[in-house]
Amino acid sequence: MRVLFATAEVAPIAKTGGLGDVCGSLPKALAALGHEVIVFMPYYRQAREWFEANGVVPEVAVPTTQVIWANWSAESTVLTTTLPGSDVPLYLIANDFFFDRRQIYATRDDGFDDFLLRYTFFCRAVINGCSTLGIAPDILHAHDWHTALMPVYLDSGLRGNPAFRATRSVYTIHNLNYQGVAAANAFSITGLHSRYWRPDAVEHWGQVNPMKAGILFADQVTTVSPNYAREIQTPVLGAGLDGILRSLSFKLTGILNGIDVEEWNPESDEHLRSTYSAERLAGKNLSKRALLREAKLAYRARTPLMAVVSRMADQKGFQLLIPILTRLLRLGAQAVVLGSGEAAIEDGFRAAEAENPKSCRVWIGFDNALAHRIYGGADFLLMPSMYEPCGLNQMYALRYGTVPVVRLTGGLVDTVHPFDGSNGDVANGFGFAAPSSDELFAATWLAILNYRDAKTWKQLQRNGMAVDFSWDRSAHEYEDVYERARTI
Ligand code: ADP
Ligand code: GLC
Repeated sequence: MRVLFATAEVAPIAKTGGLGDVCGSLPKALAALGHEVIVFMPYYRQAREWFEANGVVPEVAVPTTQVIWANWSAESTVLTTTLPGSDVPLYLIANDFFFDRRQIYATRDDGFDDFLLRYTFFCRAVINGCSTLGIAPDILHAHDWHTALMPVYLDSGLRGNPAFRATRSVYTIHNLNYQGVAAANAFSITGLHSRYWRPDAVEHWGQVNPMKAGILFADQVTTVSPNYAREIQTPVLGAGLDGILRSLSFKLTGILNGIDVEEWNPESDEHLRSTYSAERLAGKNLSKRALLREAKLAYRARTPLMAVVSRMADQKGFQLLIPILTRLLRLGAQAVVLGSGEAAIEDGFRAAEAENPKSCRVWIGFDNALAHRIYGGADFLLMPSMYEPCGLNQMYALRYGTVPVVRLTGGLVDTVHPFDGSNGDVANGFGFAAPSSDELFAATWLAILNYRDAKTWKQLQRNGMAVDFSWDRSAHEYEDVYERARTI
């Protein structure tokens, strides 16, 4: 099959979270199964910098042309290279006005947030690029709200374009809470006919809602774990779209994300001070010592090192952790934190660091190499998420023998098996259910206690390291979904 990926993030070129990881690794897994996969992403400033730093010079595939849709027009240049470490073609849509910004999701310089326009432009430029390059996909695979309008365009006449005559669409929800909602007067940006301004199309309670439209118009919808697929059909985690998702559950599938097991491999990770495996765990201790040195914290035997690597958003539940962090540290633990995002959360962690300078180090920023060193050196990873569509952090942690302590929600339920004192043969982490600081405290305290029992701890580490999180299994499930999209 010829599969077209249209996505706002691709790791390692430009990412803010797991969307990038998935769109950087799933295409390679599908290509390995024999499919022809083509990826389109915006040519952000961050992408240009990544290519420069890595000595890659993308070539011009389509010289600058005007992309015109309804009353709109903007210039696009299509560049091409391959996904790093593969021969999967990667096409980059360049338009500096939209994409040459300080951060991937930054507003315009004047502070105006033109999010709907810049990603609508991206969708239209992908369509233009495909027709010019003669790319006729069997499957158009859109991801999250940024490219959610593409299935709508297929419905609204795009199949008249020879490149898209036989194209079916699959839409993957990575995070239902980011819907790309804009005011009603932004509807004209989509360029869609007014017949799409209705509740069973783009309109949702008087606003433009690309997420909803993508769900309605895609031939198949997936989300990134089986448990999240169930949760989003409930009012609690349905983000206002649970009714629609329930009514369309016949075309909704939860497929657990995989990870790039080459990039994330403690046996060969070049970012680590010392590589290691489940059989030879000594290297993990050396990596821990190196990480502590980097954090300017003293190495203390039998003192667990807790870690956080995350976007700092409400979703991640740090409002549960920050109030109890000092108490946990005083129980005899250390902590390293890496992340950036909402100022209140960053400030909360900074305050905890100031209060506990000898046991807590906080790095505000985005640093992939440091993230690797943290998964390699920490003893446990804290993920008290309020909701978590899949979560990749816990999978990286498990693979690195770093025991996750998680709130049991979304994909965390599908990947972490909490230790209950008697299930040492299968357990690989610790979990709690209610979104409360007390429950998080109890679960982390249990982890600290068990850390002191070297035999149990090693068993938990080994159970986690033995799990196969490679894309092989999930890539086959995507194949099945593509088949369903083609045969309905
Ligand atoms: P989400 O996509 O919701 O942010 P995931 O767990 O799916 O959560 O993916 C997070 C990804 O982003 C992981 O690859 C993680 O290592 C990475 N990440 C998050 N914050 C940072 C950071 N500050 N520095 C480096 N990597 C980060
Ligand atoms: C989203 C979710 C995260 C998931 C990632 C990749 O960012 O928040 O849970 O792992 O997408 O699918």
